[in-house]
Amino acid sequence: MQKDIRSIIIAIDGHSSCGKSTVARDLAKLLNIAYIDTGAMYRAVTLFALRRNMIIDGKINEEQLLESIGNIVIDFRANPDKKVNETYLNGEKVEDEIRSLEVSNNVSPVSALGFVRKHLVALQRLMGEKGGVVLDGRDIGTVVFPNADLKIFMTASPEVRAKRRYDEMIAKGFSPSFEEILNNVEERDRIDSTRLESPLKKADDAVVLDNSHMTRQEQLEWILDKIKEL
Ligand code: DC
Repeated sequence: MQKDIRSIIIAIDGHSSCGKSTVARDLAKLLNIAYIDTGAMYRAVTLFALRRNMIIDGKINEEQLLESIGNIVIDFRANPDKKVNETYLNGEKVEDEIRSLEVSNNVSPVSALGFVRKHLVALQRLMGEKGGVVLDGRDIGTVVFPNADLKIFMTASPEVRAKRRYDEMIAKGFSPSFEEILNNVEERDRIDSTRLESPLKKADDAVVLDNSHMTRQEQLEWILDKIKEL
């Protein structure tokens, strides 16, 4: 490997619930680099809007959200017990709240808003510009860091993805139905890929990782091989 790992930027984009954050976290831990979960940032903005009744029956009060966007501070802090980074919204830990079905059901339209993306992309660039970082999201390789050293586009079948999210939510004590989750996964694919602002699409120079039939370890090794080629 030619490049210094401390200055490298790795972009992982792809469909929802295909395990981007798991592999990004594994990679960050192994290489001792930072991890930025950009989906968590869109979720935190959605939680902020829901709590202030800026979203009623799926309809967003864009004017109000635009007025408050500058007051939304998001950061990641290490939890030494769990050895993971957790998401904070205006100083409050919201790591569990942002994973609820209510947030999942409302996050796509919020992330389609141009002013929300502008605010969060600026924050992401600030967090990652020094390098030594892996970011996962939908537009990292296309918009946030188009010059990233390695771009990976991850995907898996909708059923495999829904089953993973279902298992994850059961483990956290929620009780969703599988159909509800599958609908949510498919609906989010549709909104994410067809929105006008930074739609989800593979960057021309990204490598595709379909992990429908791969273990966590196999995915990690697949990416490490790509890093060695840099
Ligand atoms: O990765 P996730 O499921 O936690 O992402 C939540 C939502 O945020 C998803 O519907 C798409 C959106 N998102 C985005 O538009 N751009 C990103 N860089 C990351 C996430």
